[in-house]
Amino acid sequence: DKGGYPHFMLKEINEQGAVLRNSMAKRLAEGTVDLSAELPWTKKDVASWKRLHIVACGTSYYAALVAERFLETITDFDIRVDVASEYRYRNIPLGPDTLAVFVSQSGETADTLAAERIAREKGARCLAVTNVIGSTIAREVHDVLQLKAGPEIGVAATKTFMGQMAVLYLLAIHLAKMQGKLTPEQEKKYCDELTALPYKLESVLLRQESLQETAMLYNEARDFLFLGRGISYPVALEGALKLKEISYVHAEAYAAGEMKHGPIALLDPRVPVVVISPKDGLHEKTFSNILEAKARKSPVIAIATEGDDSLDGTADHIFFVPETLDQFTPFLTVAPLQLFSYFFARFLGCHIDQPRNLAKSVTVE
Ligand code: F6R
Repeated sequence: DKGGYPHFMLKEINEQGAVLRNSMAKRLAEGTVDLSAELPWTKKDVASWKRLHIVACGTSYYAALVAERFLETITDFDIRVDVASEYRYRNIPLGPDTLAVFVSQSGETADTLAAERIAREKGARCLAVTNVIGSTIAREVHDVLQLKAGPEIGVAATKTFMGQMAVLYLLAIHLAKMQGKLTPEQEKKYCDELTALPYKLESVLLRQESLQETAMLYNEARDFLFLGRGISYPVALEGALKLKEISYVHAEAYAAGEMKHGPIALLDPRVPVVVISPKDGLHEKTFSNILEAKARKSPVIAIATEGDDSLDGTADHIFFVPETLDQFTPFLTVAPLQLFSYFFARFLGCHIDQPRNLAKSVTVE
């Protein structure tokens, strides 16, 4: 049931406020995070893990890359994030000193399952973050955190990306606490902001019409560049993946600082540049990339923070998202990109919920 929406993808994008609330229910309350009902880990267990690996494919991998940037600021682990199809064929040091987290919406992705089996064999503690509680991965690992996003029908992952980020952030806070790395004040600050995010996200979703207008303006573009720095870089990767998956138009994401090392050669008035540029510590650096793109006459579509007028007169289109903590901006900046892709593909008449050549779960290598 599409609930009155023309596509499951649009329905699922619009459910994301509820997805955030569900993923935090019974895990976050009164300024603290408690996952001990699901994770039986003692402080001693956590202290025995020096390494933290997060392994996934596709959109789930991008959620892991976002979480990595939060984890590395609040925990003490030696962190590695990899795609499962690489991780499984490499000789990566891991063992009983490793907590290995496998992020898979379906819990059936062949490469992720294979990577998990290798890590478990080598003695790592294995945790699955999945939406499907009876899935193969959930049955095989030591521990499970469920997304609680509800079934996702659209092949392009949207609400489960949101749920994955939320669950991984809760995990980060839980681990940081067990490592004695988080003061109650810091924890409360994070929890208060996590609690506010669903409302902020819903205020973004309410303004989706303007994204439809922008998407239609660029319906003739056949190449897009997505740029972001720091925590916005994986958001750029996810934005480009959504666009190519459902519209079959070429979209490429780059870490903004890498633009001048090659991709800048692509820029001209036919190549729109989507810049994820929330007001954070790297904002000024990203702004310089916007100027570079404008100097090559590329149209710039920016995602920025409300109240930031620094892009006025520079970016061609600005979509504003509410203010949040620097480390939490992906929860708000990814939704406009999902919507942009959706409206762009819809205008082209694509099969949005079932894009060609793609399957909801990739059970073969
Ligand atoms: C993108 C998408 C895929 C999946 C990937 C991993 O929209 O849906 O990239 O994210 O195939 O799938 P799971 O998370 O089920 O392991």
